[in-house]
Amino acid sequence: MPVDYEKKDRIAYITLNRREALNALDPTILRELHDVLTDFREDEEILVGIITGQGQKAFCAGADVKTTIPAMREMRGEWWRQQDIMRGMELWKPIIAAVNGFALGGGLELVLACDLRIAAENARFGVPEVKLGLIPGWGGTQRLPRAIPKAKAAEMLLLGDPIDAQEAYRLGLVNKVVPQEELMPTATEWAKKLCELPPLAVRGAKEAMLMGLGMSLEQGLRLEAKTEDFLVNTEDCKEGCQAFLEKRKGEFKAR
Ligand code: CAA
Repeated sequence: MPVDYEKKDRIAYITLNRREALNALDPTILRELHDVLTDFREDEEILVGIITGQGQKAFCAGADVKTTIPAMREMRGEWWRQQDIMRGMELWKPIIAAVNGFALGGGLELVLACDLRIAAENARFGVPEVKLGLIPGWGGTQRLPRAIPKAKAAEMLLLGDPIDAQEAYRLGLVNKVVPQEELMPTATEWAKKLCELPPLAVRGAKEAMLMGLGMSLEQGLRLEAKTEDFLVNTEDCKEGCQAFLEKRKGEFKAR
């Protein structure tokens, strides 16, 4: 399968699996990724996702230059726009990117669409599309300057050269850099931590943060208040507060 999809202990492990092409996104893998993310969103048993790439060399080398780019040329519009990585999916469950090597072009755009990012020491991040006569068309021109300082985003977008894991960490593009062998254990540890939290609060924080980025402060504060009004009346909030007062661990039901 071009995307391995495993569910374990309420965590979904999504692994891009086209090692021979550095996990580049061909039309098949793109469709499958979309289906997998839809299942991840819908499955109430699953609370957190981890996305990674097969092997130790690449997370994902971007859109497949041999197949996807010609297909984009032919199919102009509709399907590709809908497939923009995670756009419009209203996917508020947290997703961790475990970046095990090159994350280039669409690969970095996939990383940018994730909420928490852990990089192996050999990870490289870049948007080389300009060298192909393109721009990063799956969110890169918009999410990158929102993720790191604008001058650095401009350097990456205009020159197309990659940065290494340490620089990505310094810029705040990734949360943590670990040796390759610690990558999946660290991502799993973070995912387990998230699984212990009230799911609706975690999703509410993600939704308010991401939706708020596109709003005026006033609108964002209104959204925040609406989200808080909803959460304060959930069973999980009552349980969370009770558990705090009783000095025990809360048990949450996403209700
Ligand atoms: N598409 C298709 N095949 C790719 C690929 C891609 N994006 N990236 C790597 N491959 C293939 C190579 O063609 C090669 O296949 P063959 O063995 O059949 O020749 C195999 O993967 C291994 O790659 P390399 O031999 O190039 O490995 P390397 O170690 O010398 O270099 C690399 C690694 C620097 C990542 C280099 O492969 C590279 O620069 N890849 C292309 C990255 C790129 O330009 N990505 C952007 C794509 S456009 C995009 O993503 C558009 C968008 O936003 C919508």
